[in-house]
Amino acid sequence: MTGTATQDATRTERAPALRPLTTNVGMEVCGIDLAHPAPADLSFIIDAFNTHGALLFRGQNLSNEQLVGFSRSLGDLDEAPVNENGQTAVPGLPELYVISNIEGTDGAPIGSLGSGEAAWHTDMSYLENPPDASLLYAIEIPPAGGDTWIANMYATLDHMPADLRSQIEGRTIKHDGTYNSGGYVRQGLVANDDPLTCEGTLHPAVCAHPVTGRPVLYLGRRRNAYVDGLSLEESEALLDALWAHATRPEFCYAHKWRIGDVLMWDNRATLHRRDEFDATARRLMHRTQVRGKSVPRPA
Ligand code: OGA
Ligand code: MN
Repeated sequence: MTGTATQDATRTERAPALRPLTTNVGMEVCGIDLAHPAPADLSFIIDAFNTHGALLFRGQNLSNEQLVGFSRSLGDLDEAPVNENGQTAVPGLPELYVISNIEGTDGAPIGSLGSGEAAWHTDMSYLENPPDASLLYAIEIPPAGGDTWIANMYATLDHMPADLRSQIEGRTIKHDGTYNSGGYVRQGLVANDDPLTCEGTLHPAVCAHPVTGRPVLYLGRRRNAYVDGLSLEESEALLDALWAHATRPEFCYAHKWRIGDVLMWDNRATLHRRDEFDATARRLMHRTQVRGKSVPRPA
């Protein structure tokens, strides 16, 4: 009797729950310890993730191995890309990527993206098969700034004026491969600011989400983007209109970090950006990336 009551109490206490972050994007998941997720927690997380585009878990306490371990339960992981300083992953953990402005003993930042603004983007959409999901875990945060914003590309499309929507029907957009989200030239490439000739990959403007099947706007990033088949002037005007609509405040959530937060976003259904912060403050995030299971397909 006592044993049953205790088990029930434990189960009730641990039952995961969702709390909206804002109207149109993201949920906070309460009651899950990502260091020790139960099988039922995992299916709960995956369902919520596919439905809501972004999930926040507060108060986590994860070793590097636990962050990688939880991430791996969502799919195969990409190895960390080489950052703008030519550095690779944490030794022994090739899937762990460091986002930080903190300088190492050699004076170079130990991670990527510096302290500046990171413009709206979705991760590595210049690849044929971009990553499905990214997870960011806060280890050190600055006293102010460095908020991470998420915008919901389902809601954007659902609320898009019909004349704008008709202009992207059946179109593909070139996603630039020259610059990363911090504005740095990617390893091995040279600066190129011509959307017509820059390195990049064409993806459908409106994709069918591979899990939910719902149509979703796929913009990637603004810099060097190009709507295939249009003149450069037409493409610029259309992209400006799409971006102005997609990043309207009602589609966005601005996350104020606390140490121990894990924020994960669906690269197929959201955009994200980061506010700048004081360069003399410290910000240290660990990050993993779930490999794309399929190439973006038109809706
Ligand atoms: C990323 C990213 C933003 C941030 O990790 O892909 O864009 O807030 N990070 O550090
Ligand atoms: Mn990013």
